[in-house]
Amino acid sequence: MHKTEKFVNDNIDKFIAELGEFLKFESISTLPEKTEEMKKCAEFTAAKMLEAGLDKAVVLETGGHPVVYGERLRVPGAPTVLIYGHYDVQPVDPVELWSSAPFDPVIKDGKIFARGATDDKGQLYMHIKAVQTILANSDELPLNVKFIIEGEEEIGSPSLEPFLKANKELLKCDVVLVSDTALYAPMLPTLTYGLRGLCYMEIEVTGPNRDLHSGTFGGAVANPINILSQMISKMHDENGKVAIPGFYDDVLDLTTHEREELAKLEFSEAEYKAHLDVNALWGEKGYTVIERTGARPTLDCNGIWGGFSGAGAKTVIPSKASAKISMRLVANQNPEKIAVCFTDYVKQITPESVKVKVSAVHGAEACLVPIESPAISAAAKALSRAFGKETVYQREGGSIPVVAKFKKYLGADSVLMGLGLNTENLHSPDEHFDLNHFRLGIISSAYFMEEYSGK
Ligand code: BES
Ligand code: MN
Ligand code: MN
Repeated sequence: MHKTEKFVNDNIDKFIAELGEFLKFESISTLPEKTEEMKKCAEFTAAKMLEAGLDKAVVLETGGHPVVYGERLRVPGAPTVLIYGHYDVQPVDPVELWSSAPFDPVIKDGKIFARGATDDKGQLYMHIKAVQTILANSDELPLNVKFIIEGEEEIGSPSLEPFLKANKELLKCDVVLVSDTALYAPMLPTLTYGLRGLCYMEIEVTGPNRDLHSGTFGGAVANPINILSQMISKMHDENGKVAIPGFYDDVLDLTTHEREELAKLEFSEAEYKAHLDVNALWGEKGYTVIERTGARPTLDCNGIWGGFSGAGAKTVIPSKASAKISMRLVANQNPEKIAVCFTDYVKQITPESVKVKVSAVHGAEACLVPIESPAISAAAKALSRAFGKETVYQREGGSIPVVAKFKKYLGADSVLMGLGLNTENLHSPDEHFDLNHFRLGIISSAYFMEEYSGK
């Protein structure tokens, strides 16, 4: 057995216990009342980096939640890898649907259950333990390592872009390594080479200047909820395509070769439907599920409200109705441009009977990384060695806003070496992380450093 594997196996219980401590912080970035907790979580992360053997690990203030920066730069001439992750997590609601408390980690069937287990504390912690593992077995790392762990990924990374702009020299690197994506299937080593972007919008429709009795006024004035639903129904055509003019203008189409490669991934539509408990799937005609969720842009309503939704009945024509609508984008689509197309279209389909306000919430560019690079080859070798299986390549539908920014400000591509699973309930109740994947992730990260250094 390789000494890396042996050290990780011998220490895995300790590593899991530490991860349990990390998962106790209620680091929900969107809730203002958790600001102090965010800071404590950042300080814990920095302390663990120093313990692992980094020369420096500091909590740096930004305009928002702090970032944690760490480094060990002792190998002149060797490449530098920048490891990115996020210590912030999503809110826990609906908390009553959790089988155990979200910030009191529980281990069951080889999985650790807690908010942030797979997204992204468990995954980022693998890299900290990888550094420790290498240094336990040899005098020095094979290359130079920097860490940048942020606390605002789940709210669109608003402070990280200015931070990158202001700290280009500090963060200078040859490649960025990110574990915040999923394996294609359990125990199948996977590299993600594409992520979707995002354009998140909000619409507010206003009808009459106050709520009205629906008997007295029903039939005379437009109901904002009815109007808003009609507008939303005009956002797709009968083939499941987004109906907004200009929406597909800049979309980078899949190549024939890519479609052939993606078609090789094992996929059962029957199992997929059973897993989600739906009788039929839906989506853009002419594309497979894998293509539709990874390489095609989409539009979804994420929330809708207005009028009365309490128990019982209230006969009312509400004054206002609103919706949150997000569009997942693909390579080459520009979130700002899509926001303009969306706004123009909404205005065009708004009837005279109501007023409408459209606003942009946040956006992110998609990413597509070249798979013929030394860093990707090194990652594929590392994963294959750790798992004892050939690595597969996939595109994923989620977004990591900062990946495109790393390219823009640092000129660096990212290696998306995630060890999560899409079935691990990220953003949902009972989020968990497979602890065998956690173990293999530590080994893979250490192997990556070895492979990429060329030593
Ligand atoms: N780790 C996810 C992104 C992800 C999920 C990648 C699944 C691949 C597969 C990340 O933490 C996330 O949730 N991103 C948000 C971004 C948004 C808040 C700007 C997303 O995709 O909704
Ligand atoms: Mn994440
Ligand atoms: Mn997330």
